[in-house]
Amino acid sequence: MAKNKNNQAIWGIRIKDNTSNLFQKIGSSIDIDKRLYKEDIAVSIAHVEMLFKQKIITFKIKNKIIYGLNKIEKEISKNKLEFNKKYEDIHMNIEKRLFQIIGDEAGYVHTARSRNDQVIADFKIWIKSANKEIKSKLNSLIKTSLKLAEKNIYTIMPGFTHLKNAQAISFAHYLMAYIEMFNRDKKRFNNNLDNLNENPLGVAALTGTSFNIDRYYTTKKLGFNKPTNNSIDTVSDRDFVLDFLYSVSVCSMHISRIAEELIIWNSDAYNLINLSDKVVTGSSIMPQKKNPDLLEFLRGKSGSTYGNLFSMLTILKGLPLSYFKDLQDDKEIVFKSYDTLIGCLKIFEEVIKNLRPNKDQMLKLANNGYITATDLADYLVKNHSLSFRKAYQKTVGIVNLAEKKKKNLNELSLNEMKKIIPGLKGDVLKVFDLKNSVNSKRSYGGTSFDNIKKMIMKYKKLND
Ligand code: ARG
Repeated sequence: MAKNKNNQAIWGIRIKDNTSNLFQKIGSSIDIDKRLYKEDIAVSIAHVEMLFKQKIITFKIKNKIIYGLNKIEKEISKNKLEFNKKYEDIHMNIEKRLFQIIGDEAGYVHTARSRNDQVIADFKIWIKSANKEIKSKLNSLIKTSLKLAEKNIYTIMPGFTHLKNAQAISFAHYLMAYIEMFNRDKKRFNNNLDNLNENPLGVAALTGTSFNIDRYYTTKKLGFNKPTNNSIDTVSDRDFVLDFLYSVSVCSMHISRIAEELIIWNSDAYNLINLSDKVVTGSSIMPQKKNPDLLEFLRGKSGSTYGNLFSMLTILKGLPLSYFKDLQDDKEIVFKSYDTLIGCLKIFEEVIKNLRPNKDQMLKLANNGYITATDLADYLVKNHSLSFRKAYQKTVGIVNLAEKKKKNLNELSLNEMKKIIPGLKGDVLKVFDLKNSVNSKRSYGGTSFDNIKKMIMKYKKLND
């Protein structure tokens, strides 16, 4: 084994001149990938345990290396290890430190592996726990949203299409729509686990190795499901990174849509929700202002998560097999997206906790825009044996009449309506009652109070 002088890069024996200082500074990834230190040490420990089991290294060397690695983990967690940019990344910094602690026997740790498989093993494990963390934040957000929904089952508001009053809904049903999105986000992160659970360790630089390693052993030790199939694909594959970035993008897009909606509802024009002082900010010049800055922050952040997804797609575009330095940027991109999303999920939960519906205004707005017209058409189908198209036409007549008389539908008298639809019975008036309208939508997934209660129960159980 070549002697390793500790003040130089591992490849310092081959590459005589020092790499450009400028590149060492700019090209080094240690400031970013130090976040992988725990995973890197776990991977190295599993690796040397396997090497020992396969009789590739001795019991003594294995123990020495594990002792050193555990010591390094403690040092890093206590912020006591000073990283050196000269050693590029977390893997080489740890290996260098291992040499300092246990001496030349550290040289056995890199038998039958390369940084190419090492870094992906670390990264997959990291993304798996990031997935877990995101799902737990989503669960917490779902719980908080459920609480607000539960309090607002009977809060009536207009449902919009084209931002115009469409039909009456319960505010809880609205909130439950968000929950559907967040639940799908959880599923999306779960769906990514299949690829994340394939163990890259042991494919070495790109060919596999001539050592008699046992990849099933490290697979089990590291919590993967199976080893990857093709060594060349393994070191160049970053699909699992794209999956993660895409899932983050979709989740942040959901938050952005909801944020935009709540900004509109919070505007003075709509005034459908109140935000407590905790989640608004003031203006430097206009003393009266309470601005929904947190929501605007959330709306904007999807811009950076999409950007991160596109950065990675662009890095991968046209990149031949197998490993290239280009790939090193994957960590920074993923960490940025993860940090952004976690921040957004926390902030959004805070907004939901500090949001109150303005029930009077919701009801008032729901009384505008002939919002029960569809209910009247449905009534005519059911009680006057009309086809829906015919009933629609008759209802247009009633709406036009109301518009002419500057009245709401429920302000028209039965006699006035009879001029357009002779034979109309008195019980038609109940279709203009908003609560009745909401509660009549009993089809599965509709806004009836019973349906909402059932969905709330379902998600409460799911989220237990
Ligand atoms: N820091 C490198 C990265 O993240 C590790 C892999 C280095 N491999 C290599 N062949 N230079 O991409």
